[in-house]
Amino acid sequence: MQSITEIKSLRSQIKAWRQAGLSVALVPTMGNLHQGHFSLVEKAKNMADKVVVSIFVNPMQFGINEDLDNYPHTLTADKQGLAELDTDIVFTPSVEAIYPNGLNAQSFVDVPTISMGYCGGSRPGHFRGVATVVTKLFNLVQPDYACFGEKDYQQLQVIKTMTHDLSIPVEIIGVATSREVSGLAMSSRNGYLSESQKETATVLFKTLNWSAEQLNSGQRDFDDICRQAKQQLEQVGLKVDYFEIAQRDTLKKATLNDSQLVILAAAFLGPVRLIDNLLVDIT
Ligand code: PAJ
Repeated sequence: MQSITEIKSLRSQIKAWRQAGLSVALVPTMGNLHQGHFSLVEKAKNMADKVVVSIFVNPMQFGINEDLDNYPHTLTADKQGLAELDTDIVFTPSVEAIYPNGLNAQSFVDVPTISMGYCGGSRPGHFRGVATVVTKLFNLVQPDYACFGEKDYQQLQVIKTMTHDLSIPVEIIGVATSREVSGLAMSSRNGYLSESQKETATVLFKTLNWSAEQLNSGQRDFDDICRQAKQQLEQVGLKVDYFEIAQRDTLKKATLNDSQLVILAAAFLGPVRLIDNLLVDIT
């Protein structure tokens, strides 16, 4: 595995691969890698001849009161895990390399409609930061494929929409959420939770499943399902940020005409913000 920090070296390696006719897949990450990230790398390896994993804690996507300064850095362990998976390049650029004109650069990528509400509503500017850095990574790596987790469902839809709207020649691959045996979605932020908080956190996925069962058994009062689900979360001490049933592609609030749904949820456990979602097909 090659460890590359300089953009110039990255570009010259990618160029050599291209000249040899090899396909490339990119997995963008912010490090502190766990099985969820590794499942994206495995998918990328199945899709392309060469795999690039970027590790970059992107300051542009963090709000002022968020955990940028405390975001866990575990580069040595991350590189070891990636080497074990035969990753071809781990790309770890500096903030200065990615933002040579600082964070107040003149150009941004905004994907306004799909970024509205849910995580975009609670974290103003977050998806602008994500869309901008992912565009930059796409331009640097020029991958044929890029893998993103369904765990961050709105993020996946923002990237798909942006790629389509801007005719970026990359195929976006969504990868199913990796979970602990308890059902808790794996996340770098789970490291902030105690064992008993991890137990409480499983209620988020349980409540998503309860809501899916309601839909599957014919209940169509979406607002009532969400209201009861929120109560279930609040009862165990989770502070609900949002709990909504939406149309899967547009993320518009679901109507009775929609059949492909996603249930989206975010809740705080103490200072830790948990997110999860579940896809449901109804007839
Ligand atoms: P990060 O939180 O490090 O996640 C990197 C990728 O791993 C994302 O596509 C995310 O959806 C995926 N992922 C995280 N947990 C997962 C799980 N339990 N199962 C499956 N996939 C999972 O998301 C980001 O970084 C950043 O916003 C980024 C896209 C890198 C832009 O800075």
